[in-house]
Amino acid sequence: MMGWLQKQRAKSRLRKAFQAAGLYVTYRSGARELIVFPKIHSVTSNDGRIEYVFTLIDGMDPKEVVKKEYVFQQVFGQHVQLEGDYKRFTLNIYHRGLPNELSYSFEKIKPHLEGLALPIICGMNRHGQYVAYDAISEPHLLIAGESGSGKSTQLRSILTTLIQYYGEDRLHIYCADLKMSEFHIFKRCRQVKSVCTTVDQLKRMLRFIKSEMARRSQLLNEKEVAHINDLPESERPPIILVCIDELVIAKDDKEIMNTLIQLVAIGRALNMIVILSMQRPSADILDTKIRANLTVRMGFRTADLMNARIIGTPGAEKISMEHRGRFLLKREGLMELQAPFLPLERAKKILEAYKAADQENVLQADLEMASPQDHVSEEIILGVLDDATNQT
Ligand SMILES: Nc1ncnc2c1ncn2[C@@H]1O[C@H](COP(=O)(O)OP(=O)(O)O)[C@@H](O)[C@H]1O
Ligand SMILES: [Mg+2]
Repeated sequence: MMGWLQKQRAKSRLRKAFQAAGLYVTYRSGARELIVFPKIHSVTSNDGRIEYVFTLIDGMDPKEVVKKEYVFQQVFGQHVQLEGDYKRFTLNIYHRGLPNELSYSFEKIKPHLEGLALPIICGMNRHGQYVAYDAISEPHLLIAGESGSGKSTQLRSILTTLIQYYGEDRLHIYCADLKMSEFHIFKRCRQVKSVCTTVDQLKRMLRFIKSEMARRSQLLNEKEVAHINDLPESERPPIILVCIDELVIAKDDKEIMNTLIQLVAIGRALNMIVILSMQRPSADILDTKIRANLTVRMGFRTADLMNARIIGTPGAEKISMEHRGRFLLKREGLMELQAPFLPLERAKKILEAYKAADQENVLQADLEMASPQDHVSEEIILGVLDDATNQT
């Protein structure tokens, strides 16, 4: 708790920052000039953080405040966070910053997943707390940022966490890694129903996903409910997570893109959730009908502000090269986080315990058997797949 004197000191420090930033209005009153600063409503301190709440004077441009964030840094130090809208702002001053590296630990993460239907682990915030959210209530995630910024590593932590958290009966993962470098470690995990590495395999996997969308929509119709979760638990099909790394490689495939448009539009009610990762989700690469439905964003380092804006995480351009795994999470507002670091070899070891002894993943087998030249008709493939899903 802060005493009265401490509060006054803190307030005068903020006014100093307002003055240095030129955030004030002057009035003439006779011979005197009055300076009016934004109104400071409160200053509070808890666990190593000072929070100011202030409102602008009518007529002040809120963009000026955001633009002058560097002045707050100059006055208060590097670790400041400024959030606000057109009038009301919150300024947080942190004594400690984010960890430079955060070693992945399922034991430490697990308590933060409790109660979430499809928990997505994000990372650690400035207070040293883990942040996770529920992808069922906030569906569809976009992970973006330049090459080497930490996207695939983040996907690896998210999926490895889910695989340790969930049994096969409740979660089915369909993933595609079009750079062919990462996702092989997930093959044969019980919850993982397919790992695609080519556009052709992805296309066929999404045909299956499309048929599953139709099946689930029909189920909702028959049972006259609006959401899969309105069904009794015993009748609920498992949550489906479709996860595609480096989608850019499939950008010219109309069929893939059309299925994704449909999936992000209606997947929520069907408990079918999408995670996409790519360097630059600009409209020429990712249809805005898809982008608009990816409600949660993780913006890793970008080359410039324009790219950061495209992702929806302005400020991501300020993340330095050395800070790998650092990103801005956009949900309601923006939050800077450090992603857990799970190296490939460690993930591989963890996942050994979750592999099925025999090849139970019929969809995977099917995708691998048919080469791109095989003109197997869609019906035949889906026939096989339907059998596969009936067994699970
Ligand atoms: N959360 C993290 N913490 C520490 N280092 C990381 C983290 N994420 C990535 N890195 C480092 O950056 C490298 C590139 O990461 P990667 O996930 O492959 O990037 P991208 O998929 O965006 O190209 C990794 O090999 C690793 O050395
Ligand atoms: Mg990658």
